[in-house]
Amino acid sequence: MINGKKIALYVTGGIAVYKTVDLLRELIKYGAEVRVAMTKGAAEFVTPLTFQILSKHTVYIDTYAEDDPSIVNHINLADWADFSLVAPLTANTLAKMAHGIADNFVTSALLAVTRPIFTVPAMNGNMYRNTVTQENIEKLSNRGIYVMTPDTGFLAEGYSGEGRFPEKSRIIHELEAFMREKSESLPLKGRKILVTAGGTKERIDPVRYISNDSSGKMGHALAVEAWKRGADVVLISASQLDTPDYITRIPVESAEEMQKTVFDEFDDADAVIMAAAVSDYAPATVEKQKMKKKDTLTLSFKKNPDILRSLGEMKKTNQVLIGFAAETEDLIQYAEKKLNDKNADLIIANDVGKKDRGFNVDENEVTLLSRQSEPVTISLRSKSEISVEVIDWLVKNMN
Ligand SMILES: Cc1cc2nc3c(=O)[nH]c(=O)nc-3n(C[C@H](O)[C@H](O)[C@H](O)COP(=O)(O)O)c2cc1C
Repeated sequence: MINGKKIALYVTGGIAVYKTVDLLRELIKYGAEVRVAMTKGAAEFVTPLTFQILSKHTVYIDTYAEDDPSIVNHINLADWADFSLVAPLTANTLAKMAHGIADNFVTSALLAVTRPIFTVPAMNGNMYRNTVTQENIEKLSNRGIYVMTPDTGFLAEGYSGEGRFPEKSRIIHELEAFMREKSESLPLKGRKILVTAGGTKERIDPVRYISNDSSGKMGHALAVEAWKRGADVVLISASQLDTPDYITRIPVESAEEMQKTVFDEFDDADAVIMAAAVSDYAPATVEKQKMKKKDTLTLSFKKNPDILRSLGEMKKTNQVLIGFAAETEDLIQYAEKKLNDKNADLIIANDVGKKDRGFNVDENEVTLLSRQSEPVTISLRSKSEISVEVIDWLVKNMN
């Protein structure tokens, strides 16, 4: 969502300015092009030089420092940006924005912005709760400006309260959700995509289970990428990983539970990505009480449902079915067999026999096998980057 966006970052004079330095680095890491404007108050806390070095661009502070006669800097910045981000937003600048005051570079530029504005207020708890501040927030919200709710916690004043600058990850997540809402042409808009993730757990008794090394990272990355392209994502996950609030997540534990949930959600789904490592077997009986220690233990297993196969049999012509083949040998042969046996549209083959890729790590190398084209290998890279390629394939192959 953030990648490739032009973001004007407006920084105002609160104690949290130092946290905005880190936020700027994160935006750049996500692939945004960022230009910074500061109030004189903000420059009391962190020097403009810091922001200049990180953004690799002049920082705007003085409305009248017009170095280029062919443009007016504050109007130019307002027009340049796809998104404007005010972080931190002081009570003072908030009040000015609410009332259309344009008495410095930041407020003048913000008044000229016609594209979406996202703000991150941060201030003392009493300032935040003050009726006039709340009225100003309401005014901004009513105009379509996004106003984040600050965190509650330890404030610079030495006591706990509302008004803290939110955690960077929360800002990024809410900003991405805001950007998605404002984007008009997303290729998967209105499409429902089911994604399964994680290794299922098959209970032996109330405190013990059998599982596998799948962490759920691949499935979760795919869910986030599909969401970024506009899809309504339902993530059915057996993983312990967190997900952003904007992803609809249904937690499951066993293969049977996963099957039931997938079937419940399948009928109106446009695509299913089975990234979960579903256990092939489950204990034939689940003990009601914790088993007592014995000299030896023999367990007998029953075969679990083959969810991918069932989906391949059930799927309608307009539904796209994607599965994974996690193998430690003869990867491509097994994956090709799976593609045909299970009536899948795409099989993503990955080698789970190496320590640096596949299960339980951040990176993967995969080969995409479909009936339409020759196998395509995506070399070792982060699971988020792999997800971009997989969802690109999905976008191209969805009618
Ligand atoms: C040490 C210190 C910390 C401050 N922290 C905040 C803050 O977190 N939030 C806020 O709204 N104002 C804060 N202020 C007050 C603002 O700096 C002041 O209202 C100023 O006029 C804001 O100007 P600006 O909005 O143009 O940056 C702080 C002031 C000082 C001296």
